[in-house]
Amino acid sequence: MTIESLLITDVRNLVSVVFEPSPDINIFYGSNGSGKTSVLEAIYLLGMARSFRSSKIKPVIRNTCQSCTVFGNISTENGSVSVGVTRTFDGEYHIKVAGDKVNNVSLLAAILPTQVINPDTFRLLEGAPKNRRQFIDWGVFHEERRFLPLWQRLQKCLRQRNTLLRHGKIDYSQLHVWDSELVTVAENIDQLRANYVERLLPIFDQIMVPFSNIPRLEVNYYRGWDKDLCLSEVLKRNIDRDISSGYTHAGPQRADLKVRLDRMIASDILSRGQQKIVVCVLKLAQGLLFHKTSNRACTYLVDDLPSELDTKHWQLLCDTLETMKSQVFLTGVKSKEGLVHQWSEQTQVKMFHVEQGKLSNY
Ligand SMILES: Nc1ncnc2c1ncn2[C@@H]1O[C@H](COP(=O)(O)OP(=O)(O)OP(=O)(O)O)[C@@H](O)[C@H]1O
Ligand SMILES: [Mg+2]
Repeated sequence: MTIESLLITDVRNLVSVVFEPSPDINIFYGSNGSGKTSVLEAIYLLGMARSFRSSKIKPVIRNTCQSCTVFGNISTENGSVSVGVTRTFDGEYHIKVAGDKVNNVSLLAAILPTQVINPDTFRLLEGAPKNRRQFIDWGVFHEERRFLPLWQRLQKCLRQRNTLLRHGKIDYSQLHVWDSELVTVAENIDQLRANYVERLLPIFDQIMVPFSNIPRLEVNYYRGWDKDLCLSEVLKRNIDRDISSGYTHAGPQRADLKVRLDRMIASDILSRGQQKIVVCVLKLAQGLLFHKTSNRACTYLVDDLPSELDTKHWQLLCDTLETMKSQVFLTGVKSKEGLVHQWSEQTQVKMFHVEQGKLSNY
């Protein structure tokens, strides 16, 4: 997947921006507040119909405007497809793919699989398990059509079960129905996630090799309940606790990716910079695995990374990004000369100067 052209209207400070990115590396430079992150925000909007920084859409729409729109021509294995996404101040979606209205955001996400690396994603290691579950689920979603309906069934099942748990007098026959649905869905989701992580980890280890100052990490998938017990047994054992707290304690909604170093939680031991590198490598590993299994490349939006890393590690990451066959959109340098990296001659690099919401190509 490559974005061939973009038209951005009323996204943050971008009034109307048109450009044709390079299929390889695109670098946006300019002073603080010029609009670099806004360009990445617009590309994310095209792929996901939402913001990568917040669950709210209003801050993404330019002040005083009622909506924002991003159009893109995307080359896919089946030829070029036009995609248009409009979000309104009231929260509505208008999505068109090849001229046809699309009601399902997941269809859009499948067209432009997007990976974000920004200061927020660095919380992947130290943040809540939800972040790491979402990380695993990105990969499973893009590989397995079965995953999304399973995940939706899981959400419904948990909602129903938790409502019953909070009901005062428990209807055990109803609870039993939702328990058996939960067990079926959980086993399927667990299998898909476990299989995905098993294939991801060797790629992660392989990319980590040149980052020799980071100790070898142990990364383990936790499925969300005791590894030696079946979920139906765990649900039975937990029932009093579930009733007293009003929610389901065990299940795939508690899955996690545990990253450890000498049996300690890695984020307690690694330096901030080392944690950032590990997160970047995890994200790059996902892109490589995606490419391996689907023969398609995902888009990387990399915001403000050079300022987060030292030159040596920044160079190593650029080398990896360059070999990924992905289209990359990078920000974080103030000037054209600020990005100290020697790209190979085969790599097409485009630099865009961003100034007060306008782009010029150098
Ligand atoms: N909804 C909005 N409407 C209009 N302008 C906005 C809106 N939201 C943010 N802005 C402004 O858009 C400008 C560009 O913001 P952006 O985050 O893209 O800058 P940046 O180039 O990434 O800066 P930095 O180098 O500091 O990261 C800022 O001046 C910001 O205040
Ligand atoms: Mg920025």
